[in-house]
Amino acid sequence: MRVLVTGGLGYIGSHTCVQMIEAGMTPIIVDNLYNSKTTVLARIEKLTGVLPLFYQGDICDRDFLDNVFHLNDIDAVIHFAGLKAVNESVDAPLEYYKNNVHGTLVLVEAMQAASVNTMVFSSSATVYGEPATTPVTEEFPTKAINPYGRSKLMVEECLVDIQKAHPEMSITLLRYFNPVGAHPSGEMGEDPQGIPNNLMPFISQVAVGRREYLSVFGNDYPTVDGTGVRDYIHVLDLADGHLAALNHKGKEAGLHIYNLGTGNGFSVLQMVEAFSKSSGVEVAYQIAPRRPGDIAECWADPGKAKRELHWEATRTIDDMTTDTWRWQSNNPNGYPDA
Ligand code: NAD
Ligand code: UD1
Repeated sequence: MRVLVTGGLGYIGSHTCVQMIEAGMTPIIVDNLYNSKTTVLARIEKLTGVLPLFYQGDICDRDFLDNVFHLNDIDAVIHFAGLKAVNESVDAPLEYYKNNVHGTLVLVEAMQAASVNTMVFSSSATVYGEPATTPVTEEFPTKAINPYGRSKLMVEECLVDIQKAHPEMSITLLRYFNPVGAHPSGEMGEDPQGIPNNLMPFISQVAVGRREYLSVFGNDYPTVDGTGVRDYIHVLDLADGHLAALNHKGKEAGLHIYNLGTGNGFSVLQMVEAFSKSSGVEVAYQIAPRRPGDIAECWADPGKAKRELHWEATRTIDDMTTDTWRWQSNNPNGYPDA
């Protein structure tokens, strides 16, 4: 299967490309390098023995996309490309709506012109807003609480309408919980630019000495130890979820929605402890005020993906922290420049 992977040089996209190649699929990568480097390609080749085809360009550029579809016989699209930082989206909503919403619409137009009917889209648990209870099923009401979340929800709603009007299409919305971890080789991982917003890259940068301490955002939540609880999922389990979606739903016309999570919640302090244990480095932290917009706890009910995609997360918190540490300690400054 030949699959166009937008954003394929990014964190989740690159791991998915490795898993695809190992499963005998052919990824064809499109990325504008806004948040990634071409050196990722060499890592994919090192891990798999295959250098994937790569086209540098923007998904908002219809001529560019038409050319990529024209040059390649593409069976399906996995659409990762987009912007993903919540606080940045508050300051630059226009960029978020342009890249995430407009970019997706241009991509769908190009797919239709090339008669490609299958898309797997990177959505997020952020579309559940502040869920009233946990675990969260796909039937929970959706709500956006910031421009990033609104852009994901808008794309979901656009894709629902587009699929209704084009019933021959197979569109799968994958709602990720909290992706963490790295390839166990230590060759590939998350490489955030600037100060990390998310917990795991922040912890690992403290451990490797790039940051002094972690600020724990609130210890007065009604949770096991007062700190926020999330459903952390290993990026390779997440990557495998995309393969499962293509294999089980890619040829079935319709609109499909799945949570990709483990079904387990871990607190901030439990993650700090797990990371310290895996790395052998004490992670310094200080309790700080709550971060606006944060919820106390959130984890997935992953049952639908298990039943229908025959997929479930198998990697443990220890795998997540050990693999992150191997990547971070081997590559303290992330990927080298090209
Ligand atoms: P990432 O930033 O590492 O990867 C995204 C890639 O897309 C980057 O390589 C970037 O250069 C590229 N890109 C961005 N805009 C583009 C454009 N207009 N044209 C072409 N390429 C473009 O992010 P990630 O963590 O791998 O996330 C992938 C997707 O998953 C995103 O859509 C994100 O919103 C979604 N998601 C991520 C998380 C998470 O915690 N990482 C959680 C839920 C959903
Ligand atoms: C955040 C985004 C969400 C996005 C997801 C994946 C917000 C409000 N939500 O989710 O929309 O889909 O990332 O990119 O930004 N924490 C600390 N100190 C830190 C960082 C985080 O204590 O320096 C805590 C948070 O308060 C939270 C937990 O760690 O309890 C996880 O935070 P994070 O990794 O940012 O993920 P989410 O907030 O779940």
